[in-house]
Amino acid sequence: MAGDDDILPRLLANNRVWAAEVERDNPGFFERLAHQQTPRVLWIGCSDSRVPGNESIGLMPGEIFFHRNIANQMQMVDFNGLAVLQYAVDWLRVRHIVICGHYGCGGVKTALKQNELGLLNNWLHGVGELSRKHKARLDALADRQHRIDALCELNVIEQVRNVCRNPILLQAWRRGQEIAVHGWIYELHSGRLKDLEATVEAERLAEATLDAAVARPSLSSRPA
Ligand code: CO
Repeated sequence: MAGDDDILPRLLANNRVWAAEVERDNPGFFERLAHQQTPRVLWIGCSDSRVPGNESIGLMPGEIFFHRNIANQMQMVDFNGLAVLQYAVDWLRVRHIVICGHYGCGGVKTALKQNELGLLNNWLHGVGELSRKHKARLDALADRQHRIDALCELNVIEQVRNVCRNPILLQAWRRGQEIAVHGWIYELHSGRLKDLEATVEAERLAEATLDAAVARPSLSSRPA
């Protein structure tokens, strides 16, 4: 790709412009932020380069605690994800956890195809299991694109379930901490986010809410 060689100098130059603009519009911003972070949201998203972070939701540094991995997973045996979850819930005391997937997710496609991809197959094992669990429903969809998009949605809802079943969340709810878990999906073609209506605010509501979200007929209908 043309211009690829200068990408790192370009990033550093962009950074200076951005930092100067923020400081001009909001004098002392970085100095204040350096002392303390009090984000209200933990964001668990896919590593995909096409899914933006802060800029897509109009937030400044300091407002979101981010965790990203391939296919926005929250697995019980992933110490990286669990450490992020525990720090965000127990120490930062975030008010919201957003699992944000995206349509056309390469990790989800990989799980559907079941190609030999080494470690990636291990990482995406849960998504593959999910596709087998919902095989009849996915097979009934019109084409491969719809199947991928539907599985992207199911994967988000499943990760919301994983967070809600995690002892870190259960203990937080049981001690009265106010914390809600949400499932969103990002549409690459429009840059828009869609709420999958899989929000859980209490332990007793989790399974019924998520079962309803999975059963919803609007599954895989993209935002207008
Ligand atoms: Co992805």
